[in-house]
Amino acid sequence: MNEMIARRAPGFRPKVAVVLGSGLGGLADQVQAVATIPYGELPGFPQTTVGSHAGRLVLGHAGSTPVAVLQGRAHYYERGRPDEMKVAIHTLAEIGCETLLQTNAAGSLRLDMPPGSVMAITDHINFTGVNPLFDAGPGDGRFVDMVDAYDPALRQALLAAAAAAGVTCHQGVYIWFSGPSFETPAEIRAARVLGADAVGMSTAPETILARHVGMKVAALSLITNYAAGLVPGKLGHEQTLAVAGAAAADVQQLLRTFLERYT
Ligand code: HPA
Repeated sequence: MNEMIARRAPGFRPKVAVVLGSGLGGLADQVQAVATIPYGELPGFPQTTVGSHAGRLVLGHAGSTPVAVLQGRAHYYERGRPDEMKVAIHTLAEIGCETLLQTNAAGSLRLDMPPGSVMAITDHINFTGVNPLFDAGPGDGRFVDMVDAYDPALRQALLAAAAAAGVTCHQGVYIWFSGPSFETPAEIRAARVLGADAVGMSTAPETILARHVGMKVAALSLITNYAAGLVPGKLGHEQTLAVAGAAAADVQQLLRTFLERYT
């Protein structure tokens, strides 16, 4: 597969891999593309079932930084496999990516972080009870250290990029729930007690997979809604897409600034 990528983008060696979450796929247009490869041509890459996830790998430049953009991810809830993104992340590491920059749509557990907010992830809580390294084979490599899994220096760079782009960027802990049903209000109350600031159905497994292969990780949540029970009303994926679409320009500007400054 790496040969296949090399054939489509000869000599191209990306430094940063970017994962675009729900409603954020348009960010790929920011990249001066060298090659665009549908996941279908990349064996082992996820077959995404979420409509807003295009399922394409875009190789190109953001400023002078060579990047690989994953337009769409697969989630644990799609097939009940927590290592759904393993091949994609291993491939990105093998073709040169030293950093995995993730984006996602998430619910807010904080009234001072309303829909439309952006949050840099400082740490995560895996609330699913599963792990993408369950089947990672024997040996001690699977006992991956998760202290500073979200790289502090990269987070500072994200915050600096946000300031330069004029975007307010919160910081907080992301809690991974399996989905696909949204959380109950009681689960969200529990998550608040546990110390979570935002909730979602992705990102944590990719972070674990990336740390396993030695990539640095940075992650941004785009808050699309208050989590269940925080305010009156019901939750739905349409809201996720509508708010993500509306606030995507902020995230786009922030990411572009971050990537262009990346050294
Ligand atoms: N919960 C889980 N995942 C989400 C949410 C939420 O409230 N909003 C966007 N993705």
